[in-house]
Amino acid sequence: MSGADAVKEDRLWQRHADMAKLGGTPRGGVNRQALSAEDAAARNQLAAWAKARDFDVFTDAIGNLFIQKSGTDPALAPVLSGSHMDSQPTGGRFDGMYGVLAAFEALEALDDAGVKTKRPVMAVAWTNEEGSRFQPGAMGSAVFAGACRLDDMLGQKDWKGIVLKDALAETLKAAPAPIRDGAPGFPVDSYIEAHIEQGPRLETAATTIGVVTAIQGSRRYIVEIDGEEAHAGTTPRAARKDAYAAATRIAAAMYEATADADDTLRFTIGRVDVSPGSPNTVPGKAVFTIDMRHPDNAVLAAHEAKLEAIVAAKAPPCPARIERVTNVPPTDFDPTVIGLVRDKAESLGLSHMDMPSGAGHDAMHIARLCPTGMIFVPCERGISHNEIENATPADLAAGTRVLVEVLEALANR
Ligand code: GLV
Ligand code: MN
Ligand code: MN
Repeated sequence: MSGADAVKEDRLWQRHADMAKLGGTPRGGVNRQALSAEDAAARNQLAAWAKARDFDVFTDAIGNLFIQKSGTDPALAPVLSGSHMDSQPTGGRFDGMYGVLAAFEALEALDDAGVKTKRPVMAVAWTNEEGSRFQPGAMGSAVFAGACRLDDMLGQKDWKGIVLKDALAETLKAAPAPIRDGAPGFPVDSYIEAHIEQGPRLETAATTIGVVTAIQGSRRYIVEIDGEEAHAGTTPRAARKDAYAAATRIAAAMYEATADADDTLRFTIGRVDVSPGSPNTVPGKAVFTIDMRHPDNAVLAAHEAKLEAIVAAKAPPCPARIERVTNVPPTDFDPTVIGLVRDKAESLGLSHMDMPSGAGHDAMHIARLCPTGMIFVPCERGISHNEIENATPADLAAGTRVLVEVLEALANR
């Protein structure tokens, strides 16, 4: 039996159902934000499944969780596969979790089929990919790849002021695993991440496998505006320093400035905090996030300049600051890994198409370390970052079969 033949669709589907109970929401999704009690529960679940197989489990100083199936040559660097288990506040059960469970299923399938590889094969669950609670997203993979400093990340605060270092310590206390000493990061031969597409192209084309060629660039900002609290009933317009009014002027100008004719630039204001949050007090502070993405870094740079000009022009009389929290350039994946995904999909008789990724993934950081690629499978109506996100057991298993074949090929190079 080959490793791909040993992939068990039912087992993979059941594991998604089991994980969906951890932080489960009424509409069938999950709220399992990074370094929460629910995240710890998912870590414990994954580690328990790994230990039942006698796979090695360990974590690193940013909480990335690794599971290793040994190779025949212990001197060789491992082939790595995985994604993330944290979710959006109203997330789906497949975003991230699929890549982790597909990698784990791959380890089990190789084990069940008695397949030995030269290199170790490792599954990983990266810490805080979503970046909904702590900024920036894709944090664990960024630290692993050296794109962010560990100490800077440990000092990050969530929206309630909780320091990441404390949340991480709580999480690792609740979900203990042996910690590999030193700064995160070790030699990796290659990396491959499975993920739902999070867009409609595969479903529309009735195609099972997305051969991912690239990820578009992304930048994220926090804009902070200071106003002056005042009485809503008595303060004339000319005397107001209304922080929210300034935020809406900036937002309106940015929506207009980013409305490109070919609908390629992605611009989102996903969070607005207004304080003190009282109906009859003029807001003294407004803080909002901007998420901007495009395949061309020069376009992102040009729109960053526009943002600076718009804030300078529209914020007065309120002082405003822009903090750039993420700047990830576009990523091109490795031709060898791309070719392997395409060839393995083909030889398994699965329909496939090449495509770039609109969403960000941990793979964008790991691609700076080693040959990297991704496998997409369809999700219903392309909906993601939504509790109703859905995918079929057959598609999830098909993507995992391709993953097993690619891992085996990479691990025997
Ligand atoms: C990841 O969830 C992203 O925002 O692309
Ligand atoms: Mn994801
Ligand atoms: Mn996501």
